Amino acid sequence: MKRLLVIGELNVDLIISGLPSLPVLGQELLCQDFEMTLGSSSAICASWLAALGATVDFWGKVGCDLYGEFVVGELERRGIGTDGVIRDSSIRTGVTVSLSYPHDRALFTYLGSIAALRLSDLHLGLLSRYDHLHSASIFLQRELRPGLPALYRAAKKAGLTTSLDSGWDPEEQWGRDVFDVLPHVDFFLPNETEALHLTGANDIEEAATELSCYAGTVVVKLGREGALACTGGQVWKASGFKVEVVDTTGAGDAFNAGFLYAHVIEGRPIPEALHFANACGAIAVTIIGGATALPSAAEVDAFIEEWQ
Ligand SMILES: Nc1ncnc2c1ncn2[C@@H]1O[C@H](COP(=O)(O)OP(=O)(O)OP(=O)(O)O)[C@@H](O)[C@H]1O
Ligand SMILES: [Mg+2]
Repeated sequence: MKRLLVIGELNVDLIISGLPSLPVLGQELLCQDFEMTLGSSSAICASWLAALGATVDFWGKVGCDLYGEFVVGELERRGIGTDGVIRDSSIRTGVTVSLSYPHDRALFTYLGSIAALRLSDLHLGLLSRYDHLHSASIFLQRELRPGLPALYRAAKKAGLTTSLDSGWDPEEQWGRDVFDVLPHVDFFLPNETEALHLTGANDIEEAATELSCYAGTVVVKLGREGALACTGGQVWKASGFKVEVVDTTGAGDAFNAGFLYAHVIEGRPIPEALHFANACGAIAVTIIGGATALPSAAEVDAFIEEWQ
């Protein structure tokens, strides 16, 4: 079985729901529910990969605090190897507070450990133990971002295949430095808005084609419309599943895991892998939270059968 390595940000999500109104300064509101869950795009993708059936290790950093313990415990509970998670007493574990309303949510993030991992923390000599490297949220991973080209170059040199999800840039600067890492990325996995911002293109196929001049294969997530993939001038499109949406948190991470599992681990051709990834995304939007009650690969295949 192939071994996957996810390197990335780690944090908890504190989700407050059932609020009677928007918050007002100077007032106290009672909420109906509160939940603490494992946050982080990279960790949610790792969770999906492990549930699908992959062997996954995580390299990252947490603070020496209760939230850090929780994060490591959650990764382990999901069967993800955590020997590469550093506990650093000089930082605090990152936190995202989500005020969740039926129509949308407001997020507040304390970066802490999310931004703290650096290239010098990573034992690049151990990369050769793995078959594939994935990372995400490059604009949040502020310390690691300048080191990404060197990390991905080292992974390629060690014989790994690689994937990267840019994620959203909260500062909306969309720095061109992402183009320095793309030549070492086999599968680049932005969503539609991210691909358009990164390239400045007006049209998604144009954006994907431009990005594929740098990266191997570009896979763009198109929300309920599904996804498209582009490599060497060839474009594939796969429609999404018309499911009833409950909560879209983590749909992109579920999609990434589905694509990597189907294509990189199982060797399914790109159109079939896109379909499998769309099924994972669709399943994710029908359940609350980013990584609760995750399906096995057989369960995703059964979901696809049901929809045929
Ligand atoms: N409303 C929906 N109906 C069906 N499938 C969906 C829906 N929204 C998302 N998906 C599935 O999930 C995948 C990823 O969703 P999306 O395009 O929103 O990615 P994203 O913006 O990166 O998500 P995230 O917010 O998790 O980062 C889509 O490609 C699709 O397969
Ligand atoms: Mg995303």
